[in-house]
Amino acid sequence: MTRATSRAATYNSADRALITGACSGIGREIATLLASRGHELVLVSQRPVELQATADVLTAEYGVRTHAIPLDLATTDAAGRLVAVLDERGLDIDIAILNAGLFFFGEVADVDPARAAAMLELHVVTPSLLAHHLGARMRTRRHGHILFMSSISAWGDFPGIAFYGSSKRYLRSFAATLRSELGVWGVNVTLVAPGATATPLFHGTPLEPGGAGRSSLADRFMGDPAFVAREAVEAMFARKAEVIPGLHWRVMAGLASVTPTWLIDRLRQHAPWLSRP
Ligand SMILES: NC(=O)c1ccc[n+]([C@@H]2O[C@H](COP(=O)([O-])OP(=O)(O)OC[C@H]3O[C@@H](n4cnc5c(N)ncnc54)[C@H](OP(=O)(O)O)[C@@H]3O)[C@@H](O)[C@H]2O)c1
Repeated sequence: MTRATSRAATYNSADRALITGACSGIGREIATLLASRGHELVLVSQRPVELQATADVLTAEYGVRTHAIPLDLATTDAAGRLVAVLDERGLDIDIAILNAGLFFFGEVADVDPARAAAMLELHVVTPSLLAHHLGARMRTRRHGHILFMSSISAWGDFPGIAFYGSSKRYLRSFAATLRSELGVWGVNVTLVAPGATATPLFHGTPLEPGGAGRSSLADRFMGDPAFVAREAVEAMFARKAEVIPGLHWRVMAGLASVTPTWLIDRLRQHAPWLSRP
């Protein structure tokens, strides 16, 4: 199938996929799923050894070509540097899974500014500029998918996660606009918004699966990253605008979006995990 005739197709295993945050959690599961469908993969995250190991496992298991590009995506002009490497190696990207993320608790007045800046760079600046660079190329070819990894925290404004929730809300708005802009050129944009999922994202936080002070009920409530990955990839190839994997998380997002501010303020006053005057 040529690039031109593939425009209307929803699925083409010859498409090359870029996945950021590919060596653990949801990103690794998406990489595995795409490898099992025969896609060549470009994997990006910070830890070179783990990243190369992930690439090697996927090549050995599924016989696909993989490229590992270790890069700190929370640094200035990370998107430009990544695109320069892709161009240098002649790697056109048909599917961009913009998934890399980090998480911390902390009120705005308390957070480490360097950590907050890294989150904004990683969740806002880098994916937006990757969408700019890769979206322009996909538009020229009239073919491609861009998937943004948001969160159900984008459906509400909760104390203690202002940087995280607001950055994920930004992605939701950005993806909706980009979807309109690129849709007319045959390029699909999908936003995925998982609820709490059992991954290393929460390492060192009160939400860490199996962590001290956690109930087994809370652990059971945590989603399976493989399930989130399946829902994400299915929604993307079905060219859906938005998906929240799991019915209970869809209900939670609905509730979060109608929670009145007075109730959030009340909860904030009594939250034992946040500081009080
Ligand atoms: N788990 C959840 O409950 C949940 C819920 C909603 C949304 N999400 C979103 O899902 C996405 C994936 O998270 P996850 O749960 O799968 O967590 P994870 O297992 O911790 O994966 C995060 C990935 O992002 C990469 N990453 C982090 N900082 C990076 C940086 N500065 N430069 C390059 N790569 C970096 C990590 O690579 P290294 O290991 O090399 O650092 C890792 O591969 C995130 O955007 C997260 O916000 C997760």
